[in-house]
Amino acid sequence: MKHSVVAGPKRRTGFGSMVVSALLLMLPFIPMGMDYSPILDFLGRLHPIIVHFPIVLILCTMAFEWLFGSFKGPIGVSILGMLYHWSLYSAIAAVIAGYFLYSSGDYGGDLIKYHFWSGVTFAVLLVWCLHTRKRYTLTHRWRWRQLSRTLLFLAGIIVAFAGHQGGALTHGPEFVMEPLQKALHQKNLKEKTVLKSPNSLLVFNDLLLPSFDRTCMKCHNSSNAKSDLDLSTMDAIHAGGKSLKPMIVEGKPEESELYVRVSLPPKHDDFMPPEGKPPLQPAEVQLLYYWIKAGAGAEDTLGLLMQNDTLKGIMDSYLPQLAEQQLSKQAERLERMKTGPRLARMALDLGLEVRPDEDTDSAYYSLSMQFPPKVVTDETLAKLLPYKDYFSKVSLVGADISDEGLYYIGQMSNLQSLILTKSCIKGDGLQYLKDLPKLQMLNLSHTDLNDKNFLFLSQFPALKRVFVFNTEVTPEMVKVLDEHLRNAKVTLEEGDYY
Ligand code: HEC
Repeated sequence: MKHSVVAGPKRRTGFGSMVVSALLLMLPFIPMGMDYSPILDFLGRLHPIIVHFPIVLILCTMAFEWLFGSFKGPIGVSILGMLYHWSLYSAIAAVIAGYFLYSSGDYGGDLIKYHFWSGVTFAVLLVWCLHTRKRYTLTHRWRWRQLSRTLLFLAGIIVAFAGHQGGALTHGPEFVMEPLQKALHQKNLKEKTVLKSPNSLLVFNDLLLPSFDRTCMKCHNSSNAKSDLDLSTMDAIHAGGKSLKPMIVEGKPEESELYVRVSLPPKHDDFMPPEGKPPLQPAEVQLLYYWIKAGAGAEDTLGLLMQNDTLKGIMDSYLPQLAEQQLSKQAERLERMKTGPRLARMALDLGLEVRPDEDTDSAYYSLSMQFPPKVVTDETLAKLLPYKDYFSKVSLVGADISDEGLYYIGQMSNLQSLILTKSCIKGDGLQYLKDLPKLQMLNLSHTDLNDKNFLFLSQFPALKRVFVFNTEVTPEMVKVLDEHLRNAKVTLEEGDYY
């Protein structure tokens, strides 16, 4: 009897399953970017709703198979059969709707590719799961059942994977872990005290460099170096300036040009800074003297130098002022931490995303586009103006930001990295950014930037990386600016964007 069933008209060769699998597997290779059709667009948007069906159905199928799979009664068999079938149908519907959504062009990148492929794999696994199960119900051979159960199990794993990626696509990759990560980051920030004890302050990094920053760096930075002297790092200082006089002679302040220039009588022609500019404070000049005298080490601490009684006397009256500066910095930082969540909610309404910038200890934030992107214009940026000092990173890939919008970005005094890839700027507005003291990375790829506006970058004080792939800027100009900005690398590469 059994034999005749297998050999009869109902015999399963797997031809149908092969055709369906082949069609599904071809889907990722059919070129995207079809002409816009409202119906297909509509069907595509059903994907996020439809996907819930195969997920729930396969879970039910697995539970049923596990609990009742060995019952041969007609009810058990038919309910299970139904579950298997509908898991497959809904999976195919979800994959096709997903294809339409993908083709709409709103999505791109690797994540969506993996998601699509895992969706297709899921459906194909279900096709063969159903096929092997049919073989089992016809032949009652144990190995078909085992095979079918294995495929079901694999499909379950793949759909969990696909579901996770789908979640990452709609809510951002860290959606699930985000509350925990945020809490951890907040805790780290709180624990890091900004106030160091005076004795452990590094003389060069914590004291002298900030003083130079305030009084000298406008004229002696990496891109604008009067007399070729850059005072922004220890190495640059040692490299010296046009006069070729040694800036620092260890142990001998009187022979160190850096000290000589700030210790002359203020009316002297060579006194630094030039007339009319606010000079270093007397305590800072003394500190420079004793630091050079002690050997000008990068690791020298204030505690070490204060073993000298004269300097100790000078510093005792200077330290309260220093502490006050640090305290006010600390207060600003706490304020940023407190208002961060409110800012994030506000940004969300504006179509933007705000996250703590985990590369800094100073409670700064990164601002970026949502995914899928919303419309972000110059007015959107204007609304963020009250929070202008909060941002260290801004990425506005593909935003409708024009050169006027750069005015608002020019106010973000703590900005370090700015990505304007595929935005609508032509570059006239770049001049608004030239006073950003910390702006190190600028990505202007895929914009209409031209040679003339590109040259504004020569005035930027802190640039380290500039990307101008696919703009109107000529390679010759890139070379000119790259050579002019001594500490920056300017390239025709595309650069990262997120
Ligand atoms: C307003 C711009 C300006 C500021 C601010 C300024 N400098 Fe200068 N600096 C110059 C110019 C211009 C020269 C070249 C003319 C000269 O040597 O006097 C120069 C030259 C120097 C030199 C000699 C470089 C060489 O070639 O040997 C030193 C050292 C120096 N500055 C140190 C400082 C220090 C330290 C400060 C801060 C306390 C400072 N400068 C602030 C404009 C400035």
